[in-house]
Amino acid sequence: MTEPLVDQPVTRAPGKPLDPPAEFTQLREDQPLVKVRFPNGSTGWLATRFEEGSQVFSDPRLSAKRWRHDTPEGEVAEAGEDSPFDVGFVFMDEPEHGAYRRLLSGRFTPKAVRTKLQPYLDRIIDEHLDAIAAGPETFDFIEAMALPIPCLVICELLGVPYKDRDGFHHATEAMMDMGRSREERDSGANWLVGYITDLVAEKRRTGGTEGILAELINRADGADAVLTDRQLIGLGVLLLFAGHDTTAAMMGLSTLTLLTHPEQRQELVEHPEKTRAAVEELMRYLTIVQFGLGRVAKEDLELGGAHIKKGELVVVAMNAANRDPRTFENPDVLDIDRRMVRHMGFGYGVHACLGQNVARAELTSVLPKLFKRFPGLRLATPLEEVPMDFTGTNYGVRKLMVTR
Ligand code: HEM
Repeated sequence: MTEPLVDQPVTRAPGKPLDPPAEFTQLREDQPLVKVRFPNGSTGWLATRFEEGSQVFSDPRLSAKRWRHDTPEGEVAEAGEDSPFDVGFVFMDEPEHGAYRRLLSGRFTPKAVRTKLQPYLDRIIDEHLDAIAAGPETFDFIEAMALPIPCLVICELLGVPYKDRDGFHHATEAMMDMGRSREERDSGANWLVGYITDLVAEKRRTGGTEGILAELINRADGADAVLTDRQLIGLGVLLLFAGHDTTAAMMGLSTLTLLTHPEQRQELVEHPEKTRAAVEELMRYLTIVQFGLGRVAKEDLELGGAHIKKGELVVVAMNAANRDPRTFENPDVLDIDRRMVRHMGFGYGVHACLGQNVARAELTSVLPKLFKRFPGLRLATPLEEVPMDFTGTNYGVRKLMVTR
């Protein structure tokens, strides 16, 4: 029997910028996995429910070595062929993936973040809030806070000079924007590769020891080297873009969401002890990975009633799964008191975000401080006029004009 083919939903309903595309509701009701045509025209499966989505991310018969499905129409490439740099362990399976990831994981534990990063984070957030207080009453929150804080943090973690932020941010933006041509995206990625390559050479020359990049250089040099230069540079590029673009998008969107949900914001201001739960709920509600994440079947298999053939791509629409009423009560309601065991905002399974404790620290520090410092903070433009990023790999707000 030939399966009916539907287009992967990617367009949000007018006036509902904080909700995933409305078509997901019906698809999720119809069947757990549906045969789809992806944005680039290739075909495969789309998982829209939480349970089956989490199975896709946990089943060793599905490989992380995949090709992109979210590129513009007609732009289909083989796995790994569509990246100008070594994407490293993001595309690897066990046991190689775990071995690689362990090289970095010590830097990202809750304890490492609490002791090494939190004091720095508190300081830079306070400085930025002071600058906002001293500046114009109406300002762009993205430029004033949502972009600089994640950039400063990733620079501190990696040992990258903050003065270079405009360069690496614009390159990341170009690389992640599926609304741009292949040439533009590749030129962004190539810029990042060139930048990290030069930085590595510089650190080798000066013998700098600060930050993850310096640690990785030690892993690539000497008799007990475990990384090639290409892998080292790939990891540096990955951490640089994954570490700031995502968190910036989430910070901007979270602020917009709380500004448009006054009771939830009030609850957060009155009960700062709810901040951690509020951030998890925002991660679920907003799920910024806009077009989902794919895995490839290594053999024929059955999942959620679908007969998946070896070599087929299965994409998990995490934004749909995180609104699945089978797993979350009243899923379309933002509720910081929600009792939640798990969500997919940071991915799921062995590849779940390595930097999630860093992102959590940033969000749990910024949001309460922001609303405490500026109790009257409000949108300076109506919600319908806030420019959203509909084409980025990560959904976000391009500009967020607010009045303090
Ligand atoms: C709110 C902010 C963030 C979000 C929403 C986010 C989201 C994600 C998601 C969904 C994945 C899974 C990818 C997959 O399964 O293929 C992932 C992986 C990853 N993230 Fe994040 N991320 C965030 C912040 C960060 C930060 C701050 C860093 C680094 C400092 C980081 C570094 C990574 C790395 C290295 C991986 C690859 C993990 C692996 O394949 O094992 N992320 N992230």
